[in-house]
Amino acid sequence: MKVRNFIAGKVEHKPVIILIIIAAFCIIACNNSAPATKENGIPAKDTSLFVPPDTSTIPHDQFGEMVRYGRELIVNTAQYIGPNGTVGHYLGNKMNCSSCHVDAGTRPFAFNFFSTHARYPQYRGRENQVLNLGERINNCIMRPHSGTPMPLDSKEIVAMECYMRWLSAKVPVGGHVNGDEALELEFPDKQADIQKGAEIFAANCTSCHGKNGEGLLTIDSSAYTYPPLWGPWAYQDGSSPSRVLKLARFIKANMPDKKATWNKPFLTDEESIDVAAFINDERIHPRPGKKNIAEPDYSDIRMKAIDYSKGPYVDTFSELQHKFGPYKPIIEYHKAHNLPVIF
Ligand code: HEC
Ligand code: HEC
Repeated sequence: MKVRNFIAGKVEHKPVIILIIIAAFCIIACNNSAPATKENGIPAKDTSLFVPPDTSTIPHDQFGEMVRYGRELIVNTAQYIGPNGTVGHYLGNKMNCSSCHVDAGTRPFAFNFFSTHARYPQYRGRENQVLNLGERINNCIMRPHSGTPMPLDSKEIVAMECYMRWLSAKVPVGGHVNGDEALELEFPDKQADIQKGAEIFAANCTSCHGKNGEGLLTIDSSAYTYPPLWGPWAYQDGSSPSRVLKLARFIKANMPDKKATWNKPFLTDEESIDVAAFINDERIHPRPGKKNIAEPDYSDIRMKAIDYSKGPYVDTFSELQHKFGPYKPIIEYHKAHNLPVIF
């Protein structure tokens, strides 16, 4: 029918217009969607990111009050439960939860709490046991915050749980949503270059985090404007960010602050790994050790994350290679021997 019309010189406008509309939609949709390719480490599924609920929708009832208080604790943690906190002295340093769980845990690819409440209780390899959400919060209070755990029935723990419950309300139990995990990285075939990391740090990070990674305290010294990256007041050895890959994935999506975003990273994968390795190299940058935790980490060594820097390991690679790479041979070994690949 269409062909006959065309031959007869009688142009059917309707299908053409529809086609133009479809094409226009495609162009708009393509421009708006993220560059979802594996090459830049962004998995294809991330074209539609989870959108956390707006704070204006927090209900005005007792539950809502706890959600608001929980959010406030995540953002101004040191003020309430820091070394000089108004509610109690639980943290050993003045970082806030939102120093790492950026924007109160609502930024994609920034250790957010999008689906957290939906995934606990959960088995944790480092503790080699199942933890509930309150215990997992206490984990971060102990490491990276060098603190003492809060009572699980304290108003503060319950409030933080309420906030996370409210954030994850639309997430199916046990589920993940797009953007709740860290960005993927391509691993270079070489060990991380600490010297290059030092150069990247000097050029892009010292303006906020300081030459010695010490960060910048607020004028009244109650908290940080820019959190520290190493030294006595930074995150602990053995905490998640002390692992090079865990840190590199955060840095790629988020740092330098205001310049990098998850869909427009500032550093390449290799640069992110180099600078994370420089920050986390304890030979040059000491940080607090384990405190108040008697049990060894990863008593089931099969569950050890591959970038965890303390042996013994289930494989044959050195501590140095686990920490700084090259990571691919370790991953291949684990796959070949049917061992978990965790990072
Ligand atoms: C120095 C950085 C840092 C600080 C400060 C920090 N955390 Fe974490 N937290 C992490 C990292 C890294 C993870 C692991 C995230 C991952 O594996 O993707 C994590 C994981 C968690 C999880 C589990 C999330 C999940 O979805 O499984 C919870 C809950 C949590 N933190 C709560 C807190 C709370 C509450 C505070 C403040 C009292 C806090 N954290 C402070 C770095 C930090
Ligand atoms: C313009 C200031 C600024 C610059 C530049 C900057 N950061 Fe940050 N950084 C921040 C702020 C502020 C936070 C806390 C999270 C937030 O509020 O966005 C942060 C948090 C962090 C954290 C997690 C918290 C902690 O203390 O462990 C790391 C790691 C980090 N930055 C690394 C870097 C690296 C690496 C660079 C350079 C490539 C860099 N940052 C450049 C401002 C900056």
